[in-house]
Amino acid sequence: MQSMENYRGREEIVYQVYPKSFCDSDGDDIGDLKGITEKLGYLKDLGITMLWICPVYASPMDDNGYDISDYYSMNPMFGTMDEMEQLIHEAGRKGIKIMMDLVLNHTSDEHEWFRKALADPQSKYRDYYIFETLQNGCPPSNLRSVFGGSVWEPVPGTDEYYFHSFSKKQPDLNWENKEMRSELYEMIRWWMNKGIAGFRVDAINFIKKDLNASVIKPDGKDGLASCFPYTRNVEGIQKFLKEMRKEVFEPCGCITVSEAVDVPYSELGNYIGDQGCFSMMFDFHYTNFDLEGNDEKWHKRKDWTMEEFRELLFESQEEIQKTGWQGLFIENHDQPRAVNKFFPFKEDQTYEASTVLAGMYFFLRGTPFIYQGQELGVKNVWRDSIESFDDIESRGQYETALSDGCTKEEALYYINLRSRDNARQMIDWEEAGRQENDKKSVLSFYKEMTALRKRESCLVQGSFKPHREYGKDVVAYERNDGFTRILVLCNFSKIRQEIKNVDGKILLSNQPVIQGFLEPFQVIVIKK
Ligand code: GLC
Repeated sequence: MQSMENYRGREEIVYQVYPKSFCDSDGDDIGDLKGITEKLGYLKDLGITMLWICPVYASPMDDNGYDISDYYSMNPMFGTMDEMEQLIHEAGRKGIKIMMDLVLNHTSDEHEWFRKALADPQSKYRDYYIFETLQNGCPPSNLRSVFGGSVWEPVPGTDEYYFHSFSKKQPDLNWENKEMRSELYEMIRWWMNKGIAGFRVDAINFIKKDLNASVIKPDGKDGLASCFPYTRNVEGIQKFLKEMRKEVFEPCGCITVSEAVDVPYSELGNYIGDQGCFSMMFDFHYTNFDLEGNDEKWHKRKDWTMEEFRELLFESQEEIQKTGWQGLFIENHDQPRAVNKFFPFKEDQTYEASTVLAGMYFFLRGTPFIYQGQELGVKNVWRDSIESFDDIESRGQYETALSDGCTKEEALYYINLRSRDNARQMIDWEEAGRQENDKKSVLSFYKEMTALRKRESCLVQGSFKPHREYGKDVVAYERNDGFTRILVLCNFSKIRQEIKNVDGKILLSNQPVIQGFLEPFQVIVIKK
């Protein structure tokens, strides 16, 4: 049988834009669509080929745009549909594709469907969401939502509740309803007709639920239990993924990347590969290496070593290589800045640190994604009070930390380390300008990396093979396409490392190369 595998998007280099803090074209201190269009020249010079734009749809912004009230119109804060079309057009002229964010697990509570569902319990829209009646005077279960508090929100004046995995202003859609699914597919076709290349698909492994259990053993002092086992990666989800591929992604030729946290490696085939729904996926198994357990509480931190991280990364590469393709990333709008996460001490957060991290992930097997500001080596920004956070997850995590017994100071400390606001600071374009004129800047290094990936097809097509022989603090791997072998060596130690029997042509390094050694925080890419 002919392979059905979806190879779309493998050659791309993607740049993720968080519109609110990317570039402000009209002086209101909020980034906008015109600002993105203005920076297409900068992005082209950086060498990227595709943009993923975080949600710009109409939204009350409870979760900064991931609460969509109308999939068919733009949030006036960001601009107009004409400006969106202009952006798609101008990007196309520069050879840059556009990938929109696609939020299908939930809408805003201000979406017309939800308003109609509330206004008239008999309307067909009632079944577009998940409603339940009080059980013995209690909410239907004691599950905790991702952003803290119960997943069940009372409908005022009734004995009913509606279900939300995320904030209470993000009611979950009921994927069991076929008509609702058809409406979503229609919307996807509509966007593809605008000339975009595809989608980053939000929280897609939440669409199937198992809500039968009512009392679950609490895992925190709030009396609630993590919703993940009942809302994420639930058996039966493959039916919806298959349908979506057949109905829209395949016929429309979409390039798709799924956000799907904690999918067991044994279930990758539902997402990627011959029969999978998406062109690629983000694998999060190596992302939360600094947190304990998988309930993702930010105050439950864990000691980690680079060797442990390396093993998670290698496992991810080897597992995904068996099935399909992944999107490579070290940052996104939900994560703190990578240089802070990997190098907790300020004195280590240098040019070398940012570039060794960059070299480490960029040449792995997969499509590299660069999160805005990462190419400038941007760092976290400390906040002194919980009020200064504009992120619903940070506030929820703060409450959870307090209820689990942290002091206010401790809670604030943990939130600062992990807050999504770290990634959502306005880009400093003066700094970008400075780095453009500096050959030894993080930005210049990223430009060398994008050029190299385009030049060496082995970096796209080659297989991945881990190397452990250079020491526990060295992340080393090889790409091999049958003609060429490329070795990537990254020293995460502050001590010079000896490397024996390594020769070949140096393609890239962030520091002067000394034969036979790796300097502290040095990355070297070698063609054998
Ligand atoms: C995804 C997004 C995140 C958002 C959540 C709810 O995880 O990346 O920013 O808050 O989904 O839509």
